[in-house]
Amino acid sequence: MTRFLAPDAVGPLSDEEWLKLLERSLTDRDVDGIEYPTFPDDQTQANFVGHAREAALLEAVRFLRYTLDALSAIGGPAPAECEVVDFGSGWGRITRALLRDFRPEHVIGVDPLDSMVAACRDWFAGSPVSFETVDNWPPLPQANASVDLIVAYSVFSHLPERLATAWIAEFARVLKPGGIVVATTQSRSFIDLCEQIRTDDSVGNPDFLWHQLLARSFVDAADAYRRFDAGEFLHEANGGGDSLEESLYGDSLFSGEYVTERWGHLLAPARFEDKPYDLPQAVFVLQKPTAGGAIAAGAWRADEVRVDALEQELRELRSSETWRIGQAALAPVRLARRVKDRLAR
Ligand SMILES: C[S@@+](CC[C@H](N)C(=O)[O-])C[C@H]1O[C@@H](n2cnc3c(N)ncnc32)[C@H](O)[C@@H]1O
Repeated sequence: MTRFLAPDAVGPLSDEEWLKLLERSLTDRDVDGIEYPTFPDDQTQANFVGHAREAALLEAVRFLRYTLDALSAIGGPAPAECEVVDFGSGWGRITRALLRDFRPEHVIGVDPLDSMVAACRDWFAGSPVSFETVDNWPPLPQANASVDLIVAYSVFSHLPERLATAWIAEFARVLKPGGIVVATTQSRSFIDLCEQIRTDDSVGNPDFLWHQLLARSFVDAADAYRRFDAGEFLHEANGGGDSLEESLYGDSLFSGEYVTERWGHLLAPARFEDKPYDLPQAVFVLQKPTAGGAIAAGAWRADEVRVDALEQELRELRSSETWRIGQAALAPVRLARRVKDRLAR
């Protein structure tokens, strides 16, 4: 009888070997007597993650490597003992990559798109991995302090600020003390990518809707860099098709300073790295402190109030004379940094 993909079924494998097996599973559900999840068609794969097949899988395995290294560097539990949430699981790309190291019965993929959750249940039929629909806004179905690891690849790269903050607060509720989040946002160089798509015909694909949207995003690149470097959350409300309307989805980027300043009170920032391990996005790692009281369900709503207050503070500061003088004084420093960054690229 064929066994479904799980760590004890595939045994220890290098990342290269693992990638090769996943690539074989693109065309063959049964690989060496082990059953792998099926894939959606190439167009669906690309609509969700920008590319399909081998390229999509390579990114997933690189993210898995980053996650495993972060987990062991931070002293988290062994992967086989982790309760894992794949947040924004889409077509289950990251979910399947996890199954070399994480036990399928301890892995749950969650996504607000009913159609994807239903499809994933079909594609993973026979596996104890589970998939659940969540609302666009918290909560998660998990109990307080019940999860060791939350992975969110290319999800915070798309959420608007309030929604992103609400989810980070919700993660703080469901994580066990010491539990971690490994998530991504768009790289700082995403601003440049949008500019290149706009100005250079050889960059991007004009038939790909996402690239058409990016050509219209962050059009004042200098201002976007200035705001990013000043610690702002940048978001273009592009929408994501289906039920992901423009108020809920688009393209987002923010810095490590932003993470520390705005979310540091919820979870401890452990890492922020722009494009590590040849990934195209920035990765950040947050850890729930081991001391501290339980966070109540619905606590993320209180954070909305805090975001309101911080935004109000920022608006007042921006209109002040001190701010104007500070900006004028910083302008040459920023220009020098931009020139240096451009020369370095
Ligand atoms: C770019 S795709 C990435 C999918 C998957 N993580 C991967 O890398 O293959 C973004 C995913 O986030 C999901 N998503 C969108 N809004 C969300 C929200 N408010 N909460 C949770 N997930 C969301 C989308 O439905 C989609 O599946």
